[in-house]
Amino acid sequence: MKPVVPFSDLAAMTREIREAVDEGWDRLLQGSRFIGGEAVEEFEQAWAEYCGTRHAIGVANGTDALQLTLMALGIGPGDEVVVPSNTFVASAEAVVLAGATPRFADVSPRTMLLTPHDLMAAITPRTRAVIVVHLYGQMPDMDALSRTADKAGIWLLEDAAQAHGASWRGRPAGSIGQAGCFSFYPGKNLGAFGDAGAVVTADPDLANRLRSLRDHGRVAGSHYRHERVGMNSRLDALQAVVLMAKLARLDAWNEARRSIAARYQAAFASGPIRLVEDEAGARGVYHLAVARIPDRERVRQQLTAMGIETGIHYPIPCHRQAPYVRFASGPLPVSEAAAEQVLSLPMFPHLRDDQVARVCEAVFEAVTAKEVQIA
Ligand SMILES: Cc1ncc(COP(=O)(O)O)c(C=O)c1O
Repeated sequence: MKPVVPFSDLAAMTREIREAVDEGWDRLLQGSRFIGGEAVEEFEQAWAEYCGTRHAIGVANGTDALQLTLMALGIGPGDEVVVPSNTFVASAEAVVLAGATPRFADVSPRTMLLTPHDLMAAITPRTRAVIVVHLYGQMPDMDALSRTADKAGIWLLEDAAQAHGASWRGRPAGSIGQAGCFSFYPGKNLGAFGDAGAVVTADPDLANRLRSLRDHGRVAGSHYRHERVGMNSRLDALQAVVLMAKLARLDAWNEARRSIAARYQAAFASGPIRLVEDEAGARGVYHLAVARIPDRERVRQQLTAMGIETGIHYPIPCHRQAPYVRFASGPLPVSEAAAEQVLSLPMFPHLRDDQVARVCEAVFEAVTAKEVQIA
């Protein structure tokens, strides 16, 4: 059965950019430059500019963006990297793939994001970096986190995979830390027609190392000389064309997401549920609209029965995932409670007002039914 309100609608975005993609792909097919080349360079330049950084390095996906950044900073065996446990597993996976050890931190019960206090609690003498995750498209207090990282003498890296276009006091996501890592997975605010990713940075040496590492450790300008062990993690030109076409729509799509979030917030202002709070000073892009609901599973089932699709981001905190339990150094109560309560409501730029209203009504109905049951 087709849902009354789907969780997402990528096809509507595709329709808006179809013509630009057809034209760009047509040019590419005639030229046959499928890896690297003009289309990739054009997108890299545009993405760096959009993020307010000097360099953007296109890579194969967001996980590689994080792993390559750690490798380029020389972070590996014996080093620790702080990662919030409330994130998609790739934030921690990249640390392990780089040979380093993730140190899991808890998050704020208000924003579900990392706080300076939680960061401090996770730092040890072996810590080399923190990966701040702009989860759900929201940003934490980047001034306070930067100060804490500076004081501890560690790199601050941004996992901005869910935060294309978000900003902290006017500074774009990805431009505040030593590097910002993006995923262009199809469902992201800026999504390709397959896997893709990028790293942005102001540091020219780091950018050069990343360019070499993503391309088998090649010496710049040489096809046959390799100066380090790298990876094959290049952005392909077909995806660069899609990303370039979608970039022209990104601000408008983010604005649409913001107004949908505002409608949810207004509808739920006096209960029965609340969206996860935004940090004052952050301008989020609502990759997800996340609410906390104590009786989540029952409410979710009821919403599904009413034709409302929802998601869970994420049902198991990273430090409780089987391959990562060995890195856990104790309970993280906020992340653990959140995993049982978070529910993502439909959120995509083309969600109509009447659909938002239907979701709000259905949430009221489902949550109130719970209260009746309890009574
Ligand atoms: C927060 C976060 N970090 C990292 C990633 C990894 O990106 P990718 O799937 O492109 O490897 C994702 C997305 O999947 C993500 O949401």
